[in-house]
Amino acid sequence: MVEICNIKFKNPIIIASGPGGNGQELAEYIDLNKLGGFTSKTVTIKEKEGNPPPRIVNVKAGIINSIGLQNPGIENFIKNDLKFLNNLKTNVILSLGGENISDYLMLVDKLNNSNAAIFELNLSCPNVGKDGIPLGINEKSIFELVQEVKKISKKPIFIKFGVETFLEDLINAAIKAGADGITLINSPKGMKIDINTGKVILKRGVGGLSGPAIKPIALATIFRIRRNFRKIPIIGMGGVFDYKDAIEFIMAGANLVGVGSGVMTDPYLPLKIIYDLENYFKNKNYNEIFSCAVEGYYV
Ligand SMILES: Cc1cc2nc3c(=O)[nH]c(=O)nc-3n(C[C@H](O)[C@H](O)[C@H](O)COP(=O)(O)O)c2cc1C
Repeated sequence: MVEICNIKFKNPIIIASGPGGNGQELAEYIDLNKLGGFTSKTVTIKEKEGNPPPRIVNVKAGIINSIGLQNPGIENFIKNDLKFLNNLKTNVILSLGGENISDYLMLVDKLNNSNAAIFELNLSCPNVGKDGIPLGINEKSIFELVQEVKKISKKPIFIKFGVETFLEDLINAAIKAGADGITLINSPKGMKIDINTGKVILKRGVGGLSGPAIKPIALATIFRIRRNFRKIPIIGMGGVFDYKDAIEFIMAGANLVGVGSGVMTDPYLPLKIIYDLENYFKNKNYNEIFSCAVEGYYV
């Protein structure tokens, strides 16, 4: 059991935003209630068709996606997805995406009375805008956003970042404005070129790289942030494919561990990881493992 922001999680494994959609498809394969938590696909005010195909390309050790925040928009989400998510017996994290502060305020207002445990503000999508969501890229805008959202939110607010430059400064601004937690990492940008045509495979050129390729980057980022911010809850993710990966994330400083691309290759994977983790934890104490991060060294 893990407790953060006074919320109890039956285990540290959650589904990361995106690959699990809004849960219904995945629920045909696994009992979502056995998860520590489930994160919705990022929802925006208006419906988004997403980017033109191809949207996913395999590369060595990972995948690059260019989904482009495809989602039904908040009204359809409330009509068609929220009821299902509200009825889950696990913690639901609602991922929200906007282009400006008023988008986020509107989303929070519409979802404040849902059963969600946490709102996660996605400030790091590699597949929209010029360089991710514009709000995500400077301290001032993050401070203002979080401050405004905190005024009306009935739920704890987590901010999802990628591997941005000056990440500590951005996180510092978010925490000063009242952020309750941080989610790390969103997929860094990746590219693949077709050598027969000399053209990029994804229409936008770059997409989000995820899977085993990014695990060491995610671990190093989480470890670094945990060393600098001892108390803030961190949801860690990036290339988790088995229980050993999950333990490394906890040791690096993550309180909860997200599985993203892993559910696309095997929908049963999160439950396998939970089962294996339970065996691992039979002889070990979660808090002892977690404390490795802050006791560890940093060169
Ligand atoms: C197909 C796909 C769609 C994604 N969509 C979202 C999204 O809507 N919102 C978000 O915050 N992250 C999204 N992500 C990023 C994941 O939540 C996660 O941060 C990233 O993939 C790293 O974890 P992984 O290596 O376990 O996939 C998406 C990832 C993939 C592969």
